[in-house]
Amino acid sequence: MYCVRTVTNDLYWVGANDHRLTLFENIHPIPKGVSYNAYLLLDEKSVLFDTVDWSACRQLLENVEHLLDGRELDYLVINHMEPDHGASIEEILLRWPNVKVISTEKAFLLMHQFGFHADSHECIQVKEGDTFCFGSHTVTFVAAPMVHWPEAMVTFDTTNGVLFSADAFGSFIALDGKLFADEVNFDRDWIDEARRYLTNIVGKYGPHVQLLLKQAGGILDQIKFICPLHGPVWRQDLGYFIDKYDKWSRYEPEEKGVLIAYASMYGNTEAAAQALASRLCEKGITNVAVYDVSNTHVSYLIAESFKYSHIVLASVTYNLGVYPVMKSFLEDMKALNLQNRTFALIENGSWACKSGDLMEKFINEEMKNMTVLNERLSLASSLQGDKAAELDALASTLADSLNGQE
Ligand SMILES: Cc1cc2nc3c(=O)[nH]c(=O)nc-3n(C[C@H](O)[C@H](O)[C@H](O)COP(=O)(O)O)c2cc1C
Ligand SMILES: [Fe+2]
Ligand SMILES: [Fe+2]
Repeated sequence: MYCVRTVTNDLYWVGANDHRLTLFENIHPIPKGVSYNAYLLLDEKSVLFDTVDWSACRQLLENVEHLLDGRELDYLVINHMEPDHGASIEEILLRWPNVKVISTEKAFLLMHQFGFHADSHECIQVKEGDTFCFGSHTVTFVAAPMVHWPEAMVTFDTTNGVLFSADAFGSFIALDGKLFADEVNFDRDWIDEARRYLTNIVGKYGPHVQLLLKQAGGILDQIKFICPLHGPVWRQDLGYFIDKYDKWSRYEPEEKGVLIAYASMYGNTEAAAQALASRLCEKGITNVAVYDVSNTHVSYLIAESFKYSHIVLASVTYNLGVYPVMKSFLEDMKALNLQNRTFALIENGSWACKSGDLMEKFINEEMKNMTVLNERLSLASSLQGDKAAELDALASTLADSLNGQE
């Protein structure tokens, strides 16, 4: 059975939802699922914008066949070749042998590499600024390299103001009937998963997202709909989400607040993390989030590190090193290019405490534009009463820094 929704005149969502996949890209948990969005324009010509993951191919085909109602599919526009969108290309080519494929040079190369036979079809190679007319709709193509792969482009329909934004402005979470961001409580129910999607998937390519935002900025008043490849379509309050993207891609904290991530084997470092959280709240700093790195998937930690202005890392020393899971969180923050944060450190060691120095060295030498506060809380096995003043000093320094009195 088909399952489609109308985006606006002549334009339909023909994608599908996935609640079966446990790990997106085989790495990021998606407990609330994900959608693969594809869009069909029925103009004088019929145009399919992107396809879906292989697991959703059947639903895509039923949707497209239903809407075409016997018409030919004239064009397939491929904005992004990653297999969560491109995997069904070959099936479209087989079903509609006359379909013409529109994409970038790099995307055609990737199609070939993935074993798709686009070359047996008419291939229309487009580049930045090219336009194409499908009847009453004229689109213009905008290169979007590294958002999220090098071949990516976005397509702007100048007739109705629809921006097919590829992975940009996407989110985890299956749509489950809702199509538009204004049909859900986005700020309450979706923003955390949208942040986790963007920061983990495209976080590394902030400058490339910035470039795209700059280009979009030039036509902002003309953009009426943002149609991403995952998550809801935006037709209201576009500025809200564009502003979030702007912050994330500039590595600017979204909120003044503290992420406390701790690594603890027997609970003593954990107790110190909790004690610090309480002290902060006593001082009126209540925007505090505490996570155990050992039982929190790093994608959540990354999302939170992009959200908050201040990050406290509390780690045991482990065989003269930083606890491996904490080390991997640090490596991930570096890999995703996180910048402009203020760190505070809690270290623990029972005979040769090293974790604080090692974390500080990593932050200072491997990461960009980070500040590490001087006040470090150093524990010998556990937090004892004699450390109360140090704990309080750390909380005060953090509070001052948060209140802008560094
Ligand atoms: C496997 C293992 C290796 C450790 N390696 C070190 C070490 O090299 N240097 C050190 O000072 N403490 C070491 N510790 C002690 C911890 O850093 C920490 O002091 C202790 O686990 C108490 O903190 P916790 O309750 O938060 O786990 C080690 C502990 C374990 C279980
Ligand atoms: Fe992608
Ligand atoms: Fe994607």
